[in-house]
Amino acid sequence: MCDLGLELEKGAAQEESSSRSIKKRVGLIATCALGGSLVALYAGAGPFVAPALRKICLPFVPATNTQVKNVLSVLQSRSGTLVDIGSGDGRIVIAAAREGFRSVGIELNPWLVWYSRYKAWRQGVHRHTSFYISDLWKVSFSQYSNVVIFGVPQMMEQLEAKLQAELESPARVVACRFPFPTWTPDHVTGEGIDTVWVYDAKTFKSHTTTAKLLNSSEDKNHL
Ligand SMILES: C[S@@+](CC[C@H](N)C(=O)[O-])C[C@H]1O[C@@H](n2cnc3c(N)ncnc32)[C@H](O)[C@@H]1O
Repeated sequence: MCDLGLELEKGAAQEESSSRSIKKRVGLIATCALGGSLVALYAGAGPFVAPALRKICLPFVPATNTQVKNVLSVLQSRSGTLVDIGSGDGRIVIAAAREGFRSVGIELNPWLVWYSRYKAWRQGVHRHTSFYISDLWKVSFSQYSNVVIFGVPQMMEQLEAKLQAELESPARVVACRFPFPTWTPDHVTGEGIDTVWVYDAKTFKSHTTTAKLLNSSEDKNHL
């Protein structure tokens, strides 16, 4: 009887310890699963959320089909290199490559860059396109003859100054949805959210030269 009691007690203790170890293992698995999910969520969603947390928030909003058509229509008579600043899923770069441009996308979000490369390969234009994971404020656009930007109003003044300093006279800039604040467009096409503004560097460069000349002659008059 006493032995049986001891056996029962031993069995109960064993059961309790094995249930404790199962609980421990379940807890460990749950922690790992939660940690893994959080890491995956951060890696997946982080690049999409990060642009919204920057000083200038430029989120991924893809161009509409009409917007892409309008961009191509104002570049019809042009050739050479093209860059889409903040190229998103690569739709403008790919559409331009299909029209014969040597096209480049500059994009901060690596997922979008990898997706763009895949899309360019699927559409047979990978030899005419390049996509770079880069910050638009840290690259120079001086080598491009056609520049496309679908930005936000908060960044246009700063970008205008950057392009003014970097671009050569034969270059053309196409702004989608939001115009530049001080340049006068050479041409405007489309309406509403699909409007595109065309700026030729020879126009905005000549305005700066004229302004500089006017300023220096005013300075001389004051002497
Ligand atoms: C409004 S979307 C335009 C996408 C594409 N150009 C189109 O028209 O479909 C702007 C893109 O700029 C990217 N972006 C935001 N900040 C950036 C930065 N500092 N450098 C490069 N790309 C950036 C975003 O990830 C987003 O894909």
